[in-house]
Amino acid sequence: MSTPQPPYKIRSLHGSEVEAFLDHLSTVFGAVGAPRGLFSDHWYNNPHKSLDGVIVAVAGEDEQIVSSMQVYRRELKLQHGRYISIGAIGDVATHPAHRGKGLASHVMTRAETYMLANHLSLAVLHAAPLAVPLYEKLGYRILPMKMSVLHLPAQDPQDPPGWIRWSGAVDFENTDHVDVMTVLHQRLAPPGTFRRTAAYWNQWVRPKSNDTRWKIVKLLAQGQVNGRPAAAYLFLGFPLHEAKVTVFEFFCGFTSPNGIEEPFPPQHQESVLRHLIKSAFDLAATELKTQDVEVSIASSLLPTPCDIPSHVEVDKSWLFKWLGNCSAEGKDGQKTQIGVVEDLFHEIGPEYSFCKTDAF
Ligand SMILES: CC(C)(COP(=O)(O)OP(=O)(O)OC[C@H]1O[C@@H](n2cnc3c(N)ncnc32)[C@H](O)[C@@H]1OP(=O)(O)O)[C@@H](O)C(=O)NCCC(=O)NCCS
Repeated sequence: MSTPQPPYKIRSLHGSEVEAFLDHLSTVFGAVGAPRGLFSDHWYNNPHKSLDGVIVAVAGEDEQIVSSMQVYRRELKLQHGRYISIGAIGDVATHPAHRGKGLASHVMTRAETYMLANHLSLAVLHAAPLAVPLYEKLGYRILPMKMSVLHLPAQDPQDPPGWIRWSGAVDFENTDHVDVMTVLHQRLAPPGTFRRTAAYWNQWVRPKSNDTRWKIVKLLAQGQVNGRPAAAYLFLGFPLHEAKVTVFEFFCGFTSPNGIEEPFPPQHQESVLRHLIKSAFDLAATELKTQDVEVSIASSLLPTPCDIPSHVEVDKSWLFKWLGNCSAEGKDGQKTQIGVVEDLFHEIGPEYSFCKTDAF
Protein backbone atom coordinates (compact mmCIF):
# COMPACT_ATOMS: atom_id res chain seq x y z
CA MET A 1 0.00 0.00 0.00
CA SER A 2 1.30 3.49 -0.91
CA THR A 3 2.22 5.98 1.82
CA PRO A 4 -0.50 8.47 2.78
CA GLN A 5 -0.54 11.95 1.30
CA PRO A 6 0.66 14.88 3.42
CA PRO A 7 -0.43 16.32 5.86
CA TYR A 8 -0.53 12.74 7.25
CA LYS A 9 2.39 10.76 8.61
CA ILE A 10 2.31 7.15 9.91
CA ARG A 11 4.58 6.27 12.83
CA SER A 12 4.75 4.65 16.29
CA LEU A 13 3.49 6.46 19.36
CA HIS A 14 5.93 8.61 21.31
CA GLY A 15 6.22 8.29 25.11
CA SER A 16 4.97 11.85 25.56
CA GLU A 17 1.77 11.07 23.63
CA VAL A 18 0.14 8.35 25.78
CA GLU A 19 -2.51 10.67 27.25
CA ALA A 20 -3.20 12.21 23.81
CA PHE A 21 -3.65 8.67 22.44
CA LEU A 22 -6.14 7.86 25.23
CA ASP A 23 -7.97 11.15 24.53
CA HIS A 24 -8.16 10.22 20.84
CA LEU A 25 -9.66 6.78 21.69
CA SER A 26 -12.06 8.40 24.09
CA THR A 27 -13.24 10.83 21.37
CA VAL A 28 -13.80 8.08 18.78
CA PHE A 29 -15.25 5.34 21.00
CA GLY A 30 -17.04 7.72 23.36
CA ALA A 31 -19.50 8.13 20.49
CA VAL A 32 -20.48 4.46 20.96
CA GLY A 33 -20.48 4.58 24.75
CA ALA A 34 -17.00 3.29 25.64
CA PRO A 35 -15.50 5.27 28.55
CA ARG A 36 -11.92 6.62 28.70
CA GLY A 37 -11.28 4.37 31.73
CA LEU A 38 -11.49 1.31 29.49
CA PHE A 39 -8.58 2.55 27.37
CA SER A 40 -6.46 3.66 30.32
CA ASP A 41 -7.00 0.17 31.85
CA HIS A 42 -5.86 -1.37 28.58
CA TRP A 43 -2.73 0.78 28.48
CA TYR A 44 -1.64 0.90 32.13
CA ASN A 45 -2.60 -2.71 33.05
CA ASN A 46 -1.04 -4.34 30.01
CA PRO A 47 2.09 -6.20 31.16
CA HIS A 48 3.37 -6.45 27.57
CA LYS A 49 2.74 -2.90 26.37
CA SER A 50 5.05 -1.30 23.85
CA LEU A 51 5.03 2.18 22.34
CA ASP A 52 6.28 0.63 19.09
CA GLY A 53 3.15 -1.52 18.98
CA VAL A 54 0.88 1.53 18.86
CA ILE A 55 0.77 2.81 15.29
CA VAL A 56 -0.74 6.22 14.68
CA ALA A 57 -1.46 8.57 11.80
CA VAL A 58 -0.67 12.14 12.77
CA ALA A 59 -1.67 15.33 10.97
CA GLY A 60 -0.29 18.84 10.69
CA GLU A 61 2.78 20.50 12.16
CA ASP A 62 1.67 19.79 15.71
CA GLU A 63 1.35 16.09 14.78
CA GLN A 64 -2.13 15.58 16.17
CA ILE A 65 -3.21 11.93 16.41
CA VAL A 66 -6.04 11.31 13.95
CA SER A 67 -5.94 7.52 13.48
CA SER A 68 -4.60 4.64 15.57
CA MET A 69 -4.35 0.94 16.29
CA GLN A 70 -2.55 -1.09 18.94
CA VAL A 71 -0.93 -4.52 18.78
CA TYR A 72 -1.37 -6.34 22.10
CA ARG A 73 1.39 -8.94 22.32
CA ARG A 74 -0.08 -12.22 23.50
CA GLU A 75 0.60 -15.96 23.34
CA LEU A 76 -2.05 -18.23 21.88
CA LYS A 77 -2.48 -21.70 23.35
CA LEU A 78 -2.34 -24.65 20.98
CA GLN A 79 -2.93 -28.33 21.69
CA HIS A 80 -0.51 -30.25 23.96
CA GLY A 81 0.44 -27.17 26.02
CA ARG A 82 2.25 -25.32 23.24
CA TYR A 83 2.02 -21.60 22.45
CA ILE A 84 2.71 -19.17 19.61
CA SER A 85 3.25 -15.43 19.83
CA ILE A 86 0.50 -13.41 18.23
CA GLY A 87 -0.70 -9.83 17.85
CA ALA A 88 -4.18 -9.15 19.23
CA ILE A 89 -5.33 -5.97 17.52
CA GLY A 90 -7.35 -3.27 19.20
CA ASP A 91 -7.97 0.47 19.34
CA VAL A 92 -8.50 0.82 15.56
CA ALA A 93 -9.93 4.32 15.40
CA THR A 94 -9.97 7.23 12.97
CA HIS A 95 -11.20 10.64 14.03
CA PRO A 96 -14.55 11.33 12.25
CA ALA A 97 -13.11 14.35 10.38
CA HIS A 98 -10.39 12.21 8.78
CA ARG A 99 -12.31 9.05 7.76
CA GLY A 100 -12.48 7.50 4.29
CA LYS A 101 -8.92 8.59 3.38
CA GLY A 102 -7.28 5.22 3.86
CA LEU A 103 -5.73 6.09 7.24
CA ALA A 104 -6.94 2.99 9.12
CA SER A 105 -5.75 0.83 6.21
CA HIS A 106 -2.29 2.48 6.26
CA VAL A 107 -1.98 2.11 10.01
CA MET A 108 -3.02 -1.58 9.85
CA THR A 109 -0.55 -2.26 7.05
CA ARG A 110 2.29 -0.61 8.99
CA ALA A 111 1.34 -2.80 11.98
CA GLU A 112 2.02 -5.92 9.91
CA THR A 113 5.64 -4.81 9.47
CA TYR A 114 5.89 -4.36 13.24
CA MET A 115 4.35 -7.80 13.90
CA LEU A 116 6.62 -9.59 11.44
CA ALA A 117 9.71 -7.87 12.88
CA ASN A 118 8.63 -9.04 16.34
CA HIS A 119 7.89 -12.65 15.30
CA LEU A 120 4.16 -12.36 15.81
CA SER A 121 2.86 -14.77 13.18
CA LEU A 122 -0.84 -14.26 13.52
CA ALA A 123 -3.02 -11.18 13.89
CA VAL A 124 -6.46 -11.56 15.52
CA LEU A 125 -9.16 -9.02 16.24
CA HIS A 126 -12.78 -8.67 17.24
CA ALA A 127 -14.36 -6.30 14.74
CA ALA A 128 -17.20 -3.84 14.98
CA PRO A 129 -19.74 -5.08 12.38
CA LEU A 130 -19.33 -1.95 10.20
CA ALA A 131 -15.56 -2.41 10.08
CA VAL A 132 -15.56 -6.05 8.86
CA PRO A 133 -15.29 -5.05 5.13
CA LEU A 134 -12.25 -2.87 5.94
CA TYR A 135 -10.42 -5.83 7.49
CA GLU A 136 -11.50 -8.23 4.75
CA LYS A 137 -10.00 -5.85 2.18
CA LEU A 138 -6.75 -6.07 4.14
CA GLY A 139 -6.76 -9.89 3.90
CA TYR A 140 -8.41 -10.81 7.21
CA ARG A 141 -10.75 -13.82 7.34
CA ILE A 142 -13.66 -14.58 9.65
CA LEU A 143 -13.23 -17.31 12.25
CA PRO A 144 -16.69 -18.17 13.60
CA MET A 145 -16.85 -18.51 17.37
CA LYS A 146 -19.64 -20.58 18.95
CA MET A 147 -21.40 -19.03 21.92
CA SER A 148 -23.95 -21.01 23.95
CA VAL A 149 -26.86 -19.03 25.32
CA LEU A 150 -28.22 -20.63 28.50
CA HIS A 151 -31.84 -20.11 29.48
CA LEU A 152 -32.03 -19.85 33.24
CA PRO A 153 -35.27 -19.41 35.17
CA ALA A 154 -35.41 -16.58 37.73
CA GLN A 155 -35.69 -18.96 40.66
CA ASP A 156 -33.17 -21.65 39.80
CA PRO A 157 -33.96 -24.23 42.52
CA GLN A 158 -30.39 -25.58 42.75
CA ASP A 159 -28.86 -25.95 46.22
CA PRO A 160 -25.10 -25.31 46.48
CA PRO A 161 -23.37 -28.53 45.37
CA GLY A 162 -22.40 -30.76 48.31
CA TRP A 163 -18.68 -30.88 47.41
CA ILE A 164 -18.24 -27.14 47.94
CA ARG A 165 -16.71 -26.10 51.25
CA TRP A 166 -16.58 -22.35 50.52
CA SER A 167 -17.68 -20.01 47.76
CA GLY A 168 -17.62 -16.23 47.45
CA ALA A 169 -16.03 -13.22 45.76
CA VAL A 170 -12.41 -13.69 44.65
CA ASP A 171 -9.98 -11.93 46.99
CA PHE A 172 -6.96 -11.02 44.87
CA GLU A 173 -5.00 -10.24 48.08
CA ASN A 174 -5.33 -13.91 49.01
CA THR A 175 -2.52 -15.79 47.24
CA ASP A 176 -4.41 -19.07 47.70
CA HIS A 177 -7.26 -17.72 45.55
CA VAL A 178 -4.90 -16.59 42.80
CA ASP A 179 -2.93 -19.85 42.94
CA VAL A 180 -6.08 -21.96 42.58
CA MET A 181 -7.32 -19.91 39.61
CA THR A 182 -3.87 -20.08 38.03
CA VAL A 183 -3.87 -23.90 38.23
CA LEU A 184 -7.39 -24.14 36.80
CA HIS A 185 -6.62 -21.81 33.91
CA GLN A 186 -3.31 -23.49 33.14
CA ARG A 187 -4.90 -26.95 33.06
CA LEU A 188 -8.27 -26.27 31.56
CA ALA A 189 -8.17 -23.20 29.28
CA PRO A 190 -8.83 -24.65 25.81
CA PRO A 191 -6.66 -24.16 22.71
CA GLY A 192 -7.38 -20.73 21.27
CA THR A 193 -7.15 -18.89 24.62
CA PHE A 194 -4.34 -16.58 25.70
CA ARG A 195 -1.55 -17.57 28.08
CA ARG A 196 -1.78 -16.25 31.65
CA THR A 197 1.54 -15.39 33.20
CA ALA A 198 1.83 -14.22 36.82
CA ALA A 199 2.21 -10.65 35.49
CA TYR A 200 -0.95 -11.08 33.44
CA TRP A 201 -2.93 -12.22 36.52
CA ASN A 202 -1.58 -9.39 38.63
CA GLN A 203 -1.66 -6.48 36.22
CA TRP A 204 -4.43 -7.33 33.75
CA VAL A 205 -6.95 -9.55 35.58
CA ARG A 206 -6.62 -8.32 39.15
CA PRO A 207 -7.42 -4.55 38.92
CA LYS A 208 -11.00 -3.41 39.20
CA SER A 209 -12.29 -2.50 35.76
CA ASN A 210 -12.96 1.15 34.92
CA ASP A 211 -15.26 0.10 32.09
CA THR A 212 -18.52 1.59 33.32
CA ARG A 213 -20.53 -0.30 30.68
CA TRP A 214 -20.30 -3.51 32.74
CA LYS A 215 -20.58 -4.66 36.29
CA ILE A 216 -18.14 -7.55 36.59
CA VAL A 217 -18.37 -10.18 39.33
CA LYS A 218 -15.53 -12.63 40.02
CA LEU A 219 -16.36 -15.72 42.09
CA LEU A 220 -14.52 -18.75 43.38
CA ALA A 221 -15.68 -22.05 44.91
CA GLN A 222 -13.40 -24.52 46.72
CA GLY A 223 -14.04 -27.98 48.11
CA GLN A 224 -13.26 -31.68 47.71
CA VAL A 225 -14.40 -34.30 45.22
CA ASN A 226 -13.56 -37.96 45.88
CA GLY A 227 -11.17 -36.79 48.62
CA ARG A 228 -9.22 -34.51 46.27
CA PRO A 229 -9.07 -30.70 46.35
CA ALA A 230 -11.26 -29.19 43.66
CA ALA A 231 -12.32 -25.69 42.71
CA ALA A 232 -14.22 -23.62 40.18
CA TYR A 233 -14.13 -19.96 39.27
CA LEU A 234 -16.44 -17.76 37.24
CA PHE A 235 -16.11 -14.19 35.90
CA LEU A 236 -19.44 -12.81 34.80
CA GLY A 237 -20.40 -9.42 33.34
CA PHE A 238 -23.72 -7.61 33.67
CA PRO A 239 -23.97 -5.11 30.85
CA LEU A 240 -25.82 -1.95 31.85
CA HIS A 241 -27.86 -1.66 28.69
CA GLU A 242 -28.62 -5.25 27.69
CA ALA A 243 -30.55 -8.12 29.24
CA LYS A 244 -28.04 -10.80 28.22
CA VAL A 245 -25.27 -11.38 30.75
CA THR A 246 -21.93 -12.87 29.68
CA VAL A 247 -19.71 -15.43 31.35
CA PHE A 248 -16.13 -14.47 30.48
CA GLU A 249 -14.50 -17.37 32.27
CA PHE A 250 -15.64 -20.59 33.86
CA PHE A 251 -13.21 -23.33 34.81
CA CYS A 252 -13.83 -26.22 37.18
CA GLY A 253 -11.62 -29.16 38.14
CA PHE A 254 -9.12 -30.74 40.51
CA THR A 255 -6.40 -28.50 41.86
CA SER A 256 -3.98 -30.87 43.61
CA PRO A 257 -0.50 -30.21 42.22
CA ASN A 258 0.57 -33.78 41.46
CA GLY A 259 -2.72 -35.62 41.19
CA ILE A 260 -3.28 -38.33 38.64
CA GLU A 261 -5.26 -36.77 35.81
CA GLU A 262 -8.80 -38.03 36.08
CA PRO A 263 -11.83 -36.39 34.49
CA PHE A 264 -13.84 -34.14 36.77
CA PRO A 265 -17.46 -35.41 37.06
CA PRO A 266 -19.49 -33.34 34.54
CA GLN A 267 -22.58 -33.17 36.80
CA HIS A 268 -20.43 -31.44 39.45
CA GLN A 269 -19.33 -28.89 36.86
CA GLU A 270 -22.86 -28.12 35.76
CA SER A 271 -24.19 -27.74 39.30
CA VAL A 272 -21.34 -25.41 40.31
CA LEU A 273 -21.88 -23.35 37.15
CA ARG A 274 -25.55 -22.87 38.11
CA HIS A 275 -24.58 -22.09 41.71
CA LEU A 276 -21.95 -19.51 40.76
CA ILE A 277 -24.23 -17.81 38.23
CA LYS A 278 -26.95 -17.57 40.88
CA SER A 279 -24.43 -16.21 43.42
CA ALA A 280 -23.23 -13.64 40.86
CA PHE A 281 -26.79 -12.35 40.48
CA ASP A 282 -27.19 -12.16 44.28
CA LEU A 283 -23.87 -10.36 44.65
CA ALA A 284 -24.51 -7.91 41.84
CA ALA A 285 -27.91 -7.10 43.39
CA THR A 286 -29.18 -6.59 39.89
CA GLU A 287 -32.83 -6.13 38.98
CA LEU A 288 -32.31 -9.10 36.60
CA LYS A 289 -32.38 -11.28 39.72
CA THR A 290 -36.14 -11.58 39.52
CA GLN A 291 -36.32 -12.31 35.77
CA ASP A 292 -35.63 -15.31 33.56
CA VAL A 293 -32.26 -14.58 32.00
CA GLU A 294 -30.07 -15.52 29.09
CA VAL A 295 -26.45 -16.18 29.94
CA SER A 296 -23.96 -16.23 27.08
CA ILE A 297 -20.81 -18.38 27.41
CA ALA A 298 -18.21 -19.57 24.88
CA SER A 299 -19.36 -23.10 23.95
CA SER A 300 -15.84 -24.43 24.54
CA LEU A 301 -16.13 -23.45 28.24
CA LEU A 302 -19.42 -25.28 28.82
CA PRO A 303 -19.32 -28.60 30.73
CA THR A 304 -20.18 -31.58 28.53
CA PRO A 305 -22.74 -33.00 28.78
CA CYS A 306 -24.78 -30.07 30.08
CA ASP A 307 -28.53 -30.25 30.74
CA ILE A 308 -29.14 -26.51 31.07
CA PRO A 309 -31.51 -25.54 28.21
CA SER A 310 -29.53 -23.54 25.66
CA HIS A 311 -29.13 -22.53 22.04
CA VAL A 312 -25.99 -21.74 20.05
CA GLU A 313 -25.24 -18.36 18.44
CA VAL A 314 -22.26 -17.89 16.14
CA ASP A 315 -20.16 -14.77 16.64
CA LYS A 316 -18.77 -13.86 13.21
CA SER A 317 -16.84 -10.82 14.38
CA TRP A 318 -13.59 -12.63 15.13
CA LEU A 319 -11.12 -12.19 12.29
CA PHE A 320 -7.56 -13.32 11.74
CA LYS A 321 -4.69 -12.89 9.31
CA TRP A 322 -1.83 -15.34 9.07
CA LEU A 323 1.40 -13.36 8.69
CA GLY A 324 4.09 -15.98 8.51
CA ASN A 325 6.05 -19.01 9.35
CA CYS A 326 6.66 -19.70 13.03
CA SER A 327 7.45 -22.43 15.49
CA ALA A 328 5.37 -23.39 18.51
CA GLU A 329 7.29 -24.28 21.62
CA GLY A 330 6.08 -26.91 24.09
CA LYS A 331 6.79 -27.33 27.84
CA ASP A 332 9.62 -29.72 26.99
CA GLY A 333 11.24 -27.06 24.77
CA GLN A 334 10.38 -29.06 21.66
CA LYS A 335 9.53 -26.90 18.64
CA THR A 336 6.94 -27.60 15.93
CA GLN A 337 7.08 -25.68 12.67
CA ILE A 338 3.84 -24.00 11.57
CA GLY A 339 4.25 -22.99 7.96
CA VAL A 340 0.73 -22.31 6.74
CA VAL A 341 -2.53 -21.33 8.38
CA GLU A 342 -3.95 -24.86 7.89
CA ASP A 343 -1.18 -26.15 10.18
CA LEU A 344 -2.29 -23.65 12.78
CA PHE A 345 -5.89 -24.87 12.69
CA HIS A 346 -4.67 -28.43 12.93
CA GLU A 347 -2.84 -27.32 16.10
CA ILE A 348 -5.79 -25.50 17.63
CA GLY A 349 -8.00 -28.55 17.09
CA PRO A 350 -10.99 -29.71 15.07
CA GLU A 351 -13.49 -27.40 16.82
CA TYR A 352 -11.11 -24.49 16.35
CA SER A 353 -12.00 -21.06 17.53
CA PHE A 354 -10.30 -18.19 19.28
CA CYS A 355 -11.76 -18.18 22.71
CA LYS A 356 -12.45 -14.78 24.19
CA THR A 357 -12.38 -15.57 27.88
CA ASP A 358 -11.49 -12.01 28.80
CA ALA A 359 -10.58 -8.77 27.04
CA PHE A 360 -7.08 -9.21 25.53
C1 LIG B 1 -13.61 1.83 11.04
C2 LIG B 1 -12.68 3.04 10.93
C3 LIG B 1 -11.47 2.81 11.82
C4 LIG B 1 -12.25 3.21 9.49
O1 LIG B 1 -11.29 4.26 9.45
P1 LIG B 1 -10.86 4.98 8.07
O2 LIG B 1 -9.57 5.66 8.32
O3 LIG B 1 -11.97 5.76 7.56
O4 LIG B 1 -10.63 3.67 7.18
P2 LIG B 1 -10.11 3.60 5.68
O5 LIG B 1 -10.26 4.93 5.01
O6 LIG B 1 -8.78 2.95 5.66
O7 LIG B 1 -11.13 2.56 5.10
C5 LIG B 1 -12.50 2.90 5.05
C6 LIG B 1 -13.25 1.62 5.12
O8 LIG B 1 -13.68 1.43 6.46
C7 LIG B 1 -14.94 0.76 6.45
N1 LIG B 1 -15.78 1.48 7.40
C8 LIG B 1 -16.31 0.92 8.45
N2 LIG B 1 -17.02 1.75 9.17
C9 LIG B 1 -16.96 2.92 8.57
C10 LIG B 1 -17.50 4.18 8.86
N3 LIG B 1 -18.30 4.39 9.92
N4 LIG B 1 -17.17 5.18 8.05
C11 LIG B 1 -16.37 4.96 6.99
N5 LIG B 1 -15.86 3.78 6.68
C12 LIG B 1 -16.14 2.77 7.45
C13 LIG B 1 -15.44 0.73 5.03
O9 LIG B 1 -15.23 -0.59 4.57
C14 LIG B 1 -14.51 1.68 4.28
O10 LIG B 1 -14.21 1.19 3.02
P3 LIG B 1 -14.66 2.02 1.71
O11 LIG B 1 -14.09 3.39 1.89
O12 LIG B 1 -14.07 1.27 0.58
O13 LIG B 1 -16.15 1.98 1.78
C15 LIG B 1 -13.41 4.35 11.38
O14 LIG B 1 -14.62 4.44 10.69
C16 LIG B 1 -13.69 4.43 12.87
O15 LIG B 1 -12.85 4.88 13.64
N6 LIG B 1 -14.90 4.02 13.29
C17 LIG B 1 -15.30 4.07 14.70
C18 LIG B 1 -14.48 3.14 15.56
C19 LIG B 1 -14.54 1.72 15.08
O16 LIG B 1 -15.60 1.18 14.81
N7 LIG B 1 -13.36 1.08 14.99
C20 LIG B 1 -13.22 -0.27 14.54
C21 LIG B 1 -13.24 -1.17 15.69
S1 LIG B 1 -13.03 -2.85 15.21
